[in-house]
Amino acid sequence: MGAPTAGSRHRIPLISGERTAPRRPRWAAVDALVAGTDFEHYFRLRRARDGDPFTVRFPGFGSVLFTGTSSGTEELLRAPAAILRPPQPNPIEPLIGSASLILARDQRHRDDRALLTPAFHRNRIAGYGTVIQNSTRTELSGNGIGPGWLPGNVIDARVAARALTLRVILSLIFGADDPARHRVYTATVGNFLTAFSGPLMLVPALRHNAFGYSPWDRFVRSRRRLDDLLDSDIAERRAGDRGDGVLDDLLSAHQPGEGAPDDSELREQLRTLLVAGHETTATGLVWALFHLHRDADALSRLRAELDTAGDLEPEDLARLPYLDAVCRETLRLHPPVPIVLRRLTGPYRLRGVDLDAGDTMGVALPLLHSDPDCWENPARFLPERFLDHRYSPFEFAPYGGGHRRCLGAGLADFELRIALATIVARVELSLPPRYRHGRIPRSVPHNIATGPHRGIRFVVEGIRHR
Ligand code: HEM
Repeated sequence: MGAPTAGSRHRIPLISGERTAPRRPRWAAVDALVAGTDFEHYFRLRRARDGDPFTVRFPGFGSVLFTGTSSGTEELLRAPAAILRPPQPNPIEPLIGSASLILARDQRHRDDRALLTPAFHRNRIAGYGTVIQNSTRTELSGNGIGPGWLPGNVIDARVAARALTLRVILSLIFGADDPARHRVYTATVGNFLTAFSGPLMLVPALRHNAFGYSPWDRFVRSRRRLDDLLDSDIAERRAGDRGDGVLDDLLSAHQPGEGAPDDSELREQLRTLLVAGHETTATGLVWALFHLHRDADALSRLRAELDTAGDLEPEDLARLPYLDAVCRETLRLHPPVPIVLRRLTGPYRLRGVDLDAGDTMGVALPLLHSDPDCWENPARFLPERFLDHRYSPFEFAPYGGGHRRCLGAGLADFELRIALATIVARVELSLPPRYRHGRIPRSVPHNIATGPHRGIRFVVEGIRHR
């Protein structure tokens, strides 16, 4: 989240029907605490109390003017790219590094994006269908991280989803499958992400050393271990053994010399893809399984669609309408990246409020996706709504939009559909009663993604033979 520069202000526009400048919350630490305990609930509280737009201030990151309406989202996403930058300081910078695409701006952002985009082109992603299916089956069979999905076993959906999506992104980065290497990465990335707790992300004052024993020390050590792994892979590829992954694209695009990224920049770009490219999709998958197993009608409708479709190629599978609707509805109810932020380098007006250079504006996706002006029964899981209506990119925006729209959106959509279909077609699961009928778990930030506050465990009831 960006920090407004000294002297920045939200002016009260001198027009008829003018808005008053939104109140700035006085207790940033309290805001951070409430948001860290339940992100989606926090935004709803703020909208109910302050209307739209409203200002949020977190310690160390400054103020953000948030909107959760589709007109506000359109204004934000249509703002000229020339006056927009990513917010800085940024809560996830320690994870991704300052050379990350997520933090790059202006020409550097355009160049880096152009370099990475071919790896996420539709044709290339289509080639990952089998990788995604195999990665899901590896987890189901017990050859992945957790136990096999056999009757009576209890499965922690988050652990399984993270493992399978991590294998996919590793294949995308490094090319050919190397199960032994994947296992080392799985453990190292897992430690790295776990070490970056919500408090470390939201409260920069906690980022200090204490003779190797503070949470920050532990995080820095885990990042070093991941960087060592990445460095050795970069060195190996530089030495000659090229493959067909994103790393090879990046190395081929620049011959050593002027303008070529050094190893630390390459490493941060790869770390960005690892971080951005698996926990987000994994969280979506967990929520999709969660809602389907609370809603017997939705689950049987999806099963019927999959059974009728039979053995499809992954590309055709991903196009099945109800499967598609279930995935969209999941991302609507629980956007894994709940905020889209832009820092201004020039004046701009959002929802009638004048902002200055240095101010940060944002879309609160949980509000946009539950705006009663757009969504009927917004709190309910109703995939059908996506079957008979097309929502605009300013009403439904789980991947943000404009010049910074999620680079991996195509991959994430494809992966979510194929992994979900593979699981639902293969096993019968049940949720513990407190989840089957009870409240929906709180949504809390886990490093880059926001997901259920505690692991959701399913019991495997049976294996399906179609
Ligand atoms: C369900 C899964 C995912 C969700 C919900 C998601 C969501 C988002 C959102 C909201 C943004 C900010 C967009 C904006 O500012 O307008 C973003 C950016 C980004 N995402 Fe994703 N993402 C997902 C999966 C992925 C995957 C699989 C990758 C690929 C490795 C990825 C890579 C990125 C990158 C590199 C950016 C920065 C783009 C830029 O600044 O130019 N994401 N994502």
